[in-house]
Amino acid sequence: MALRRSVLGGLAGAAALGGGIAWWVGRRDGAAYDAAAAQTWRPPDPAEQPALRELVRCATLAPNSHNTQPWRFLAVPGGLRLLPDPARRTPVVDPDDHHVFATLGCAAETMLQAAPALGLHAGIDVGAAGEAMLRVTPGAQRRPPMAEAIARRRSTRAPLDPAPLAAEERAALVAAGGSDPSVGMLLLDAPAQRAGLAELILAGNSTQLRDAAFVAELASWIRFSAGAALARRDGLFAGASGNPVLPEPIGRAIFPHVFTLAAETDRMARQLAGSAGFAVFAAERDDPAHWLAAGRAAQRVCLAATVMGLRTSWVNQPVEVPALRQVLGGWLGLGGRRPNLVLRFGHGPVLPASLRRPVEDVLVEGQA
Ligand SMILES: Cc1cc2nc3c(=O)[nH]c(=O)nc-3n(C[C@H](O)[C@H](O)[C@H](O)COP(=O)(O)O)c2cc1C
Repeated sequence: MALRRSVLGGLAGAAALGGGIAWWVGRRDGAAYDAAAAQTWRPPDPAEQPALRELVRCATLAPNSHNTQPWRFLAVPGGLRLLPDPARRTPVVDPDDHHVFATLGCAAETMLQAAPALGLHAGIDVGAAGEAMLRVTPGAQRRPPMAEAIARRRSTRAPLDPAPLAAEERAALVAAGGSDPSVGMLLLDAPAQRAGLAELILAGNSTQLRDAAFVAELASWIRFSAGAALARRDGLFAGASGNPVLPEPIGRAIFPHVFTLAAETDRMARQLAGSAGFAVFAAERDDPAHWLAAGRAAQRVCLAATVMGLRTSWVNQPVEVPALRQVLGGWLGLGGRRPNLVLRFGHGPVLPASLRRPVEDVLVEGQA
């Protein structure tokens, strides 16, 4: 009896010690995460040299699918080539690399907006296969609001204020999304439009959650702990999505039990109801150059929203499920155009930021 009591006492003590160590590690990593996030999310800094390198750092702050950061930047005479990183594809959710090129578009737009803050003038050439070259020359130094917004933009996966935007806020989003004639943006904020789109997003969500390969790919990019997020500096940090931060093995063990169809449908429905409106982007052609253009337009809208203190979040489920993409295109009357990307927006809370890999990891040959 005494032996059993002492064994149990030992186990309880070990559990308490284990819990204490986990708590201490969590606190330490949490503080390190916050420091890394603050260091990551700095606005364009003209004091940083060389300026091309700083431009690449700004590019890495762009939104990107699953935070895989599927980009590389090659320093060449006259500027930078933007290249996809095939090792960071997500073949289940994005089999044709549509999101990879849309992500390159987000990065390109971020550099174009950051350039004046670094005393640079930038322009871009894009071939049909999505091969993009950013041409950079010295320019006048200015700090436009969109450049300042680069470091404040986040994907905010939380319910936002469903109240309609002020007329000037709405007009600014329409202007930002409509400046490239090759990409159409539909802003859906009437109640019937919001309800119709929400139904398609929820249908896409259910289809994806029933697909074991989709869930496995998503899980492989989730970072449950601050320590794992810090070690890799990529992926979807649980805290940045408003989820509990857990020791990595515990997060992975409980994920299948908490990431259920019912729970995620409820969560997504609350986020959709908590949206002032949606923006759907549809480029005039279905090729990598136009996927990239759609990404540029979406990032312009994200930055314009950020300038006004609005939050944005991506809800691409209905463009990721091919059958629903067709339905969405028909419902919107796109006349055969592929709907590329879907954003929601509204005023709302600030969630923890995600991390990025350092410039050294993405600047090829380190020539800048
Ligand atoms: C092309 C593209 C597709 C995306 N699709 C989704 C999506 O369907 N759902 C979602 O929650 N976030 C989506 N995102 C947002 C990314 O997950 C997010 O940008 C990334 O995790 C980095 O976080 P940040 O935007 O806060 O910097 C997408 C981003 C891009 C560029």
